Amino acid sequence: MSKRSMKRWAVVTALAATAAVAAAGAGCAPKKVEQAGRVAIPDGTIDPAEWGKAYPVHYDLWKKTEEPTVAGKSRYKKGYDDDGVFYDKLDEFPFLALLYNGWGFGVEYKEPRGHAHMVRDQFEVDPGRVKAGGSCLTCKTPYAPALQQRLGKDYFSKPYKEVHAQIPKEHQMLGVACIDCHNNNDLSLKVSRGFTLGKALEKLGVDQEKLSTQDKRTLVCAQCHVTYSIPKDENMKSTDVFFPWDGSSYGGITIENIIAKLRSNPANREWTQGVTGFKLAFIRHPEFELFSNNSVHWQAGVACSDCHMPYTKVGTRKVSDHRVMSPLKNDLKACQQCHAESPEWLRNQVYAIQDRTMSQFIRAGYATATVAKLFEMAHKAQAEGKQIDKALYDQARDHYEEAFYRVVFIGAENSIGFHNPTEALRITGDAAAHAGKAEGFLRQALAKAGVTVPLKVDLELAKYTNNRGVKKLMFKAEHEIKDPLAAKEK
Ligand code: HEC
Ligand code: HEC
Ligand code: HEC
Ligand code: HEC
Repeated sequence: MSKRSMKRWAVVTALAATAAVAAAGAGCAPKKVEQAGRVAIPDGTIDPAEWGKAYPVHYDLWKKTEEPTVAGKSRYKKGYDDDGVFYDKLDEFPFLALLYNGWGFGVEYKEPRGHAHMVRDQFEVDPGRVKAGGSCLTCKTPYAPALQQRLGKDYFSKPYKEVHAQIPKEHQMLGVACIDCHNNNDLSLKVSRGFTLGKALEKLGVDQEKLSTQDKRTLVCAQCHVTYSIPKDENMKSTDVFFPWDGSSYGGITIENIIAKLRSNPANREWTQGVTGFKLAFIRHPEFELFSNNSVHWQAGVACSDCHMPYTKVGTRKVSDHRVMSPLKNDLKACQQCHAESPEWLRNQVYAIQDRTMSQFIRAGYATATVAKLFEMAHKAQAEGKQIDKALYDQARDHYEEAFYRVVFIGAENSIGFHNPTEALRITGDAAAHAGKAEGFLRQALAKAGVTVPLKVDLELAKYTNNRGVKKLMFKAEHEIKDPLAAKEK
């Protein structure tokens, strides 16, 4: 373990469920969260305030996700700082506005904020974002499983507002609730979304009866912090919500398999990219996929909840912190359960990882956006009657899609690489390589067709970053994130 030392007892506490650590952990008494005094909640109780009567401390912490956090503690995730500024990924990364132009994600794509806001934010965001229909409620309302059961196929295809109106009035703005993560009788953890995560785990061959508590400390989050696809019928109506995990394994869901699944069926192509006219699929917040794919922390048996819901003292009680947030905003207290280093050291480690990922992501993103503009040029040349070599074009398109989905994956993953640093760099590296190949093939094809392509392609970003959607959103240059390592290049 080199010069860093682990707080062994703490690792044991957090990892009590993993056999290997339990065997090695003799000697120091693990501190446990109180198990005593668990009160059963009547069946069917969704209202967290009711659960709160038995568990007021947890309820208060859970409610606190409503409140913004102190500004200045996180370099990149400022989505809910108490300075009141909201950040849109399309301002932070203008190349995404170009790549996502053509549908809701290219109009407004806010950074995440506290759990309490999840449904409210769907009402505030540009309406283009909830066009897929009721399916959009799947990782937002605790009523999703019941609505899906009651409405069947209609749940996915009916307009968002129509399905949303079926939620009891008093809970229409309620986000993730106790019932989403807990059994009401003994407060043990449970996966409540059998129709999405349950089915996906089955695909991976996971026996849900055999899951440990430590597994569930991750899987309750994986109900929503995963990528999903909303397949369409011939009328572009949504028919389902599924996780593209085919061909992968638990602990090894790869970007390659995700892309292969998305590209395998035209029904998964949910939208049409404005610049290229290509029908494409999409990837959403793949925190679970990136983290669980053989990261150091996953291999060490660490769970999402260890870092995002650390034990905290409230009065004389020790509880899991239900104010779920970035560990940086919590002064890295979560990390210190296991790591003996100072918060400054830990924060710098996080920033070093994030800066490297960010740098690679931005470069891969611009390289991919450049290819999109070359396709636009090729299509224009074709429209003018010029011959574009089909073999070159097809190869370019293949590499372009491979680059595109990797950029989307890292852009949608919310840890800027921290959840799995080496994998994040591998993915952005591959994205840049694919974009480079696509550019090469397209330049050849264009040259062959007699089109002169300038050395530096004009991305015309203002066209995509301004006047977005019904709110006519304009580019906020002051929010743009520039390559943090650009100065080191020379
Ligand atoms: C029912 C779905 C759901 C579940 C379950 C869920 N999340 Fe979230 N989470 C969301 C959504 C949606 C957002 C973004 C909310 C917004 O911006 O309005 C979010 C936001 C977050 C944020 C950002 C908070 C901030 O202050 O910016 C963190 C961190 C997070 N979730 C971690 C977790 C962890 C860890 C778990 C498991 C213990 C978990 N989530 C379980 C849906 C969920
Ligand atoms: C070893 C600790 C650790 C583990 C385990 C972990 N995370 Fe994170 N997570 C972080 C750090 C550090 C960040 C970056 C926060 C920042 O930059 O402010 C982060 C960022 C996030 C964010 C964005 C937070 C924001 O404020 O916008 C979400 C959402 C998230 N993680 C969810 C998860 C989920 C879901 C899991 C499990 C699949 C998980 N994390 C596992 C440490 C961890
Ligand atoms: C996003 C998922 C999630 C939500 C929502 C959630 N919890 Fe939890 N809760 C957890 C996790 C994870 C643990 C840790 C369980 C463990 O390690 O056994 C936990 C633990 C608990 C415990 C056991 C003691 C402790 O602090 O570890 C109680 C009691 C509890 N939660 C009550 C509630 C109540 C009441 C609500 C609603 C107001 C709620 N929880 C909402 C995920 C959640
Ligand atoms: C439940 C225990 C636990 C928690 C919580 C935890 N870690 Fe770790 N961390 C480990 C273990 C175990 C390792 C692997 C052993 C080692 O290399 O020291 C590790 C490794 C690391 C590494 C080296 C990883 C690499 O790829 O080389 C860094 C950096 C790190 N942790 C930072 C953090 C930060 C920052 C947090 C909080 C956001 C955190 N850890 C939370 C247990 C934990």
